[in-house]
Amino acid sequence: MNNNFYITTPIYYVNDVPHIGHAYTTLACDVLARYKKARGYNVFFLTGTDEHGQKVEKSALANGENPIELADRVMQRFAALWDKLNINNTDFIRTTQQRHKDGVQKIFTQIEANGDIYLGSYEDWYCTPCETFWTETNLIDGCCPDCGRPTEKLKEKSYFFRMSKYQQQLIDHIENHPDFIQPRSRRNEVLNFVREGLRDLSISRTSFSWGIPVPNDEKHVIYVWFDALNNYITALGYPDDKDGNFKKFWPANVHVIGKDILRFHAVYWPTFLMAAGLPLPEKVFAHGWWTVEGKKMSKSLQNVVEPNMLVDKYGIDPIRYFLLREVPFGLDGDFSHSSLIHRINSDLANDLGNLISRSTAMVNKYFDGILPEQFAATEFDDVFISQFPDKIAIIDQQMNNLAFNKALLSIWELVRSANKYIDDTAPWALAKDEDKRQHLGGVMYNLLEAVRIIGLLVSPFMPDTGMAIMDILGQDKDNLSLDGQDQWGKLVAGVVIEKAKPMFPRIVED
Ligand code: MSP
Repeated sequence: MNNNFYITTPIYYVNDVPHIGHAYTTLACDVLARYKKARGYNVFFLTGTDEHGQKVEKSALANGENPIELADRVMQRFAALWDKLNINNTDFIRTTQQRHKDGVQKIFTQIEANGDIYLGSYEDWYCTPCETFWTETNLIDGCCPDCGRPTEKLKEKSYFFRMSKYQQQLIDHIENHPDFIQPRSRRNEVLNFVREGLRDLSISRTSFSWGIPVPNDEKHVIYVWFDALNNYITALGYPDDKDGNFKKFWPANVHVIGKDILRFHAVYWPTFLMAAGLPLPEKVFAHGWWTVEGKKMSKSLQNVVEPNMLVDKYGIDPIRYFLLREVPFGLDGDFSHSSLIHRINSDLANDLGNLISRSTAMVNKYFDGILPEQFAATEFDDVFISQFPDKIAIIDQQMNNLAFNKALLSIWELVRSANKYIDDTAPWALAKDEDKRQHLGGVMYNLLEAVRIIGLLVSPFMPDTGMAIMDILGQDKDNLSLDGQDQWGKLVAGVVIEKAKPMFPRIVED
């Protein structure tokens, strides 16, 4: 079995400051990266910043800065936010780093040597905010069909990539690999686009200079998407591969992106790779977009939700939980403070928080915090215990399908069932009867063992919570591995269980 797992976020433009949309993509990747690590995989999790292009150059100019000053400043904001959100990335690539620039130039040279890059001349409508050329027929009232902003006519000498040559090969690949583009509905969208015909792609610009120069023709800079997409392999050390990471981790298991950049990842990127003779990523997953209280997030509406503020107000784990629980991954969703507060109060404070406080309080009350032996006295116990293996297998499938909200729903079925188990077995009644002491002990064991497994399962989503649960149960909080630890019965009788303080205080809406 190949035990390596490579997952990537898009690299973020430095002309915008991070908001929950960006945090969402990175968080989803972090959760899957942590889950695969817990399952024993050797994980490489990449994120970074996209620092070249006309958009960044223009923003810098408007700020009275050099582009690199802007990039240095904003890149810090992304990195600081990832720290704050407890993001555990393996590497952070910046497209202005030498390793990336060298790699991109080498790939360009290689594709050119293969005959798939040629010099031509280009005239079309350009949308600067999207860094995209459009043909006249694509425009809507002269404006960009994606963002609706005005376009300008540009004519310039340009290097072209023979994308047209790869049309059939790409169609075949998509058809033969049903999981390549996810969710399924997006796959048809891409297939239709490719079937309409692929034009050769202009991959250099002469109208500005903030980019990687074309090898041996420095008037041209390389098109920002050709530059940016290659981050996924330059970060692994391609082509020199001094550390062997490229050999180990390429092709990527999954590129997680937003739906707005699917075409770049599912059409341009695979054809670049085909031209370079490299294998394609296994999966491109396009998630949906967040609106805020029903409206598109935008600077002009001043409704941009700032993740640092959310974390300060509600805590890291509640935010991580909410973003992945609230909306099926792949669909659009709406952010509102009231739904966030509702989730925290009902799922975290009520369901999970109560389970932990009730079960640890009872084992302290009835057994001085010392975990009793396993003992199954009634059918309630067997039914309760036997659901775990199946549920864990289902959660594994859901995680592998990036169905994060479904996985959380499955975990919460266990949480709710554990709370119900308390009500069904009524430990307070068993405690009154000295003859039922062993049965009471068995109920305590089952509850705390359930808490342990639930703690491990929630850890990828809420790492601090997972660690706190392990601590309370007298386990090694730095070992959140599921591999070898997710079977029932691993908690050893005699261990000392702490009485937990409330983990998720209820929030009163202001
Ligand atoms: N630089 C390119 C990506 C290059 S990858 C080789 C880019 N950057 S971006 O900063 O504009 O967007 C990065 C990611 O943030 C995209 O996946 C995008 O979908 C996501 N989001 C930006 N706003 C969003 C929402 N409102 N909601 C959800 N995700 C959104 O594109």
